[in-house]
Amino acid sequence: MYPNISRVASASSKRSLLGLIPGRSTFVWIVAFSVSMNILLLVIPFYSIEIFDRVLSSGSVETLIGLTGIAVIALAFSAAFDTFRSRLLSRFAVAFERYVAPIVLESVIADSSGRGDSRVNDLAKVRELRSFLSGGTVTTLIDAPFLPLFIFILFFLHPWYGIIALIGTTILLVMGFVSRKIARAEIAQATGAASRTQAALDGIVRHASLVRAMGWTRGAVREFMRLNDQALSPVVRGSERVAAIASAARLVRTVLQIAAIGTGAWLVLQNEVLSGSLIASSLLIARTLQPMEGLISAWRALTSAHEAWIQVCAAAAPVLERTRKTVLPTPSGELEVAHLTYRTAAVKRPILAEVTFQCRPGEIVVVIGPTGAGKSTLLRLIAALERPTGGTIRLDRAALENWDPDQLGQFVGYLPQDVQLLGGTVAEAIAGFDENARDEDIIAAAMLAQAHEMILSLPQGYQTAIGRDGNKLSGGQRQRIGLARAFFGDRKLILLDEPNANLDPEGEEALCAAVQRARERGAALVIVTHRPRLLTVADAVLLLRDGRQFAFGPPSGVLPLSVSGATPIQTPRSRPGEAASFKIPVVGRRG
Ligand SMILES: Nc1ncnc2c1ncn2[C@@H]1O[C@H](COP(=O)(O)OP(=O)(O)OP(=O)(O)O)[C@@H](O)[C@H]1O
Ligand SMILES: [Mg+2]
Repeated sequence: MYPNISRVASASSKRSLLGLIPGRSTFVWIVAFSVSMNILLLVIPFYSIEIFDRVLSSGSVETLIGLTGIAVIALAFSAAFDTFRSRLLSRFAVAFERYVAPIVLESVIADSSGRGDSRVNDLAKVRELRSFLSGGTVTTLIDAPFLPLFIFILFFLHPWYGIIALIGTTILLVMGFVSRKIARAEIAQATGAASRTQAALDGIVRHASLVRAMGWTRGAVREFMRLNDQALSPVVRGSERVAAIASAARLVRTVLQIAAIGTGAWLVLQNEVLSGSLIASSLLIARTLQPMEGLISAWRALTSAHEAWIQVCAAAAPVLERTRKTVLPTPSGELEVAHLTYRTAAVKRPILAEVTFQCRPGEIVVVIGPTGAGKSTLLRLIAALERPTGGTIRLDRAALENWDPDQLGQFVGYLPQDVQLLGGTVAEAIAGFDENARDEDIIAAAMLAQAHEMILSLPQGYQTAIGRDGNKLSGGQRQRIGLARAFFGDRKLILLDEPNANLDPEGEEALCAAVQRARERGAALVIVTHRPRLLTVADAVLLLRDGRQFAFGPPSGVLPLSVSGATPIQTPRSRPGEAASFKIPVVGRRG
């Protein structure tokens, strides 16, 4: 027996994504630079106070030179700190993407059923966050908390200056609130439309040659423009409104700056303040209100970054919360499927119900049944691409969900119904992303799949470029290379979905020889087919109809049923309520 699967929680599970990003401690430096920068910027108002109140009254040129020198040095430091801050932020942004993108990609690969494209833009969101982090909005946000300090200094110069700043802040806060509402509404409308446009665009570009061949070019462009308009109109509407608010905010700020100068002049006339404070207060008010004004235009970026962050966290969560699986011993390939049921929310009746069969090492189970019977779904479930909604699939007695996905993948070879080849050359298409792939293994797999001669006859043999998804190859060539890929490495369980669909009689013979050789090597094979040739090498046949197991047993017992459509042979139910099960004969290995 295998050891119990211990679910060891990884150190990173349950902790938030933010807490894991390397380099987040640089934020301490970023804040330190911001504080220094903002304090140094106070030099300008104090410089103007000193010039008016000290230099002009005393007429001392030395003081003027000294003060100017100090101010220039302070401003130079401030500029240097600003540069450091931007540099740290952009480095942090890159570190963020480098850390988060692989997690999200891993999660997308783990989750993608190959049928939905709703997760395609999860990675685009990571990139959006990276450019947000290195953009100007973040610095505006960091500068905003210095507002109370500036207001305090204004109150210190004279309460009237403080009051003007407070009034300005309040008005801009209200404007910011309105702008935030507009941005949220616009983003809510635009996001859905934008992802529909992207999906349509992906489809059109991917199938460009089909679009051309069918004469759909104009229609495709029209459809894209229609979707694009839908996506753009809320953006345009929202931007126009936000731009109007931003202009009003600029007006408020400049009016308040003038008000500060006017008030200052009046206070000077009343002998309440010295004339230097007049310029200083105007500069300070500008400095106080600028980040507030910036936020009005930044709300869109901020809201969209917030939504992106929520999406990225949700995308990363399955990987972060994943428990480490114990690496099990190399399986022998013993497959047990028990009461397997699969349903989706979209379809009322189960796509598969109560499927029960076994396939031992060195056996071939052929799955037959009419179109839509659930054959491909069964293989996808066994390949762990889909999770069963009921029942279990075990490989060497361990349920599939207890296997580490990458370890499981090494022992399971899968040829999907529509063969899509990944990679630039034939050799890469066979070995995939296996970094340890050796040439002799690739050739061995091709020989096992009886594809070696065919590959050698290609212009550059194993180095022939196959094009996107293998579109430079014929359907039959793709299928045979896909078969070699399913055999590549030490596959204990081989799942082939209509491997002979595109093969000529000669190719079919080669396929039969290939699966027999794989069986002799001790692999367990589950093969879906519509054509009779492969049935001659079957040890057992599984007949599916409308997702139900109609029969399972030796070909001689099942094949007549598949022709006559007779009712299945049922064993008595062992317990009330238990689904019908089928007598599973002991399947012996054939020569
Ligand atoms: N993810 C899914 N969501 C909704 N329906 C699905 C999904 N996967 C499969 N189906 C449905 O399940 C049924 C079985 O599909 P499946 O591809 O397994 O059939 P099949 O037996 O392989 O057919 P064929 O012989 O034509 O390849 C079909 O009616 C299909 O529409
Ligand atoms: Mg199918």
